[in-house]
Amino acid sequence: MTPKQVADKICESIPSHQPLIASTSTAPNGFINIHLSSALMGEVIASVIRDGPEPPCMQKMKIVVDFSSPNIAKEMHVGHLRSTIIGDSVCRILEYCGHEVHRTNHVGDWGTQFGMLITYLLEAYPDILTNPPNISDLTAIYKASKKRFDEDEAFKETSRLNVVKLQGGDAECRKIWNLLCDISRLEFQKVYDLLDVRLEEVGESFYNPMIPGVIDVLEKRKLAYDEDGMLIIKLPHFTIPLIVRKSDGGYGYDSTDMAAVHHRLFEKKADWIIYITDAGQASHFYMVFDAAKACGWLKKDSPQRLDHIGFGVVCGEDGKRFKTRSSETVRLIDLLNEAKARMATSMGERVKEGKSDFTPQEIEDASGKIGYGAVKYFDLKQNPSTNYIFNYDRMLDTKGDTAVYLLFAYARVASILRKAQFDKGKNLEELYSRAIDLVQFKHPSERALAFEVMQFGDTIRRVLKDLLPNVLCQYLSNLCVVFTDFVTKCNVLNSEEVDSRLLLCETTRRVMFKCFELLGIEALDRI
Ligand code: ARG
Repeated sequence: MTPKQVADKICESIPSHQPLIASTSTAPNGFINIHLSSALMGEVIASVIRDGPEPPCMQKMKIVVDFSSPNIAKEMHVGHLRSTIIGDSVCRILEYCGHEVHRTNHVGDWGTQFGMLITYLLEAYPDILTNPPNISDLTAIYKASKKRFDEDEAFKETSRLNVVKLQGGDAECRKIWNLLCDISRLEFQKVYDLLDVRLEEVGESFYNPMIPGVIDVLEKRKLAYDEDGMLIIKLPHFTIPLIVRKSDGGYGYDSTDMAAVHHRLFEKKADWIIYITDAGQASHFYMVFDAAKACGWLKKDSPQRLDHIGFGVVCGEDGKRFKTRSSETVRLIDLLNEAKARMATSMGERVKEGKSDFTPQEIEDASGKIGYGAVKYFDLKQNPSTNYIFNYDRMLDTKGDTAVYLLFAYARVASILRKAQFDKGKNLEELYSRAIDLVQFKHPSERALAFEVMQFGDTIRRVLKDLLPNVLCQYLSNLCVVFTDFVTKCNVLNSEEVDSRLLLCETTRRVMFKCFELLGIEALDRI
């Protein structure tokens, strides 16, 4: 049988009185075209108008998303920006689908570097506890103490002793450690506030007391064993082992993550744990996952899932890791402020050209929302695993696949609806209540738009299956293109089909709004 004959046979088996399907046809290559009935499309439009776009149905889970997770006393860098943006969007989508989401900030607040920092601070500020200095510039402190640490053996030894004291709960060391954590927290919070991201801090120190117990389990299971004084776990497919206890008896990154995954599975009773870090850490997480599975920590026949989203490097124009001229890592806060400033400049120019009537205050508010939105979208639209080149001009371009372009499309829908109400005197609420009777599809562009709207639920499913927010960006971008095509070909306000077309506009607006929201971008009615 030819593909066409197979396709014809399949078509014959579709009952002709199907209410959802208007007609079917086949192509020579065996493709089957199914034309959805207008009644079905009308129902979808009416339901979006009534209830907003609905998330797909799925089994509700308890999910830990481990993201952002910068390190205390160090600057948050562009990598942490990616983790924060991707993680926030993943959380928003999971929350929208009704899951119980724990937005976990696994900050690096424990480890040998604190011995070094404490030793340095005690040396540089002997009365640090009674007269706490203003050490807002922690990066400088970190550098100065690292220099002392590398140059001076006695300093190194005192640092080692201070780590032991800190871990033993020594009051002085604890106080200094707390001071460092508080200063860092304030800095991190500034970035989270700008980006409108919510996180719950559960740092490495939280898991520290649990490590010995977990190591016990690992040893009893004969998974961890001694090699050259270290306690390690070797897993098939990996060339390097996990080190769960160092030869000096100390615990490191691997030990903490084994304790954390144990805690999340058994105490928090998470069904799904998602880690979001740079791709360089992928094998660390795959080893942790394999070790947890080898230990039988995942329930059999359960939907339990462990995932790592590994993202690529953010590069400068030279294709190398993104840095400032002085070749330091870029401060996140500067980067966000720059995006806002550039957006404010271009909005100011539009006012001068007579294209916008924004007041300076409105520019101040909107430029941040659009500027930060542009940074987020530029990041989210790439497949997370790829590297990308950070470029303000491309990010803030009003054309092409940018948040600015998409936000303009959104403002255009909003403006049509505003004009209908204020210039044409339409009672939109009344119109919306009669959606099912009024909506019709005469022009192919109307059908195309309705069809695009109908893809929303499936898109969300696909995003979650592979944990790829870029799929949602692609969808939003397509929706904007199809909408633009619709308003170019179909006059809305001065046509006979004005009511039906306004309903299509409102449906599109609501789906677009939801997409922006799930990407962590605020859609504005006017820009
Ligand atoms: N603090 C780490 C870093 O800056 C990221 C931590 C990720 N989470 C984890 N559970 N290891 O790279």
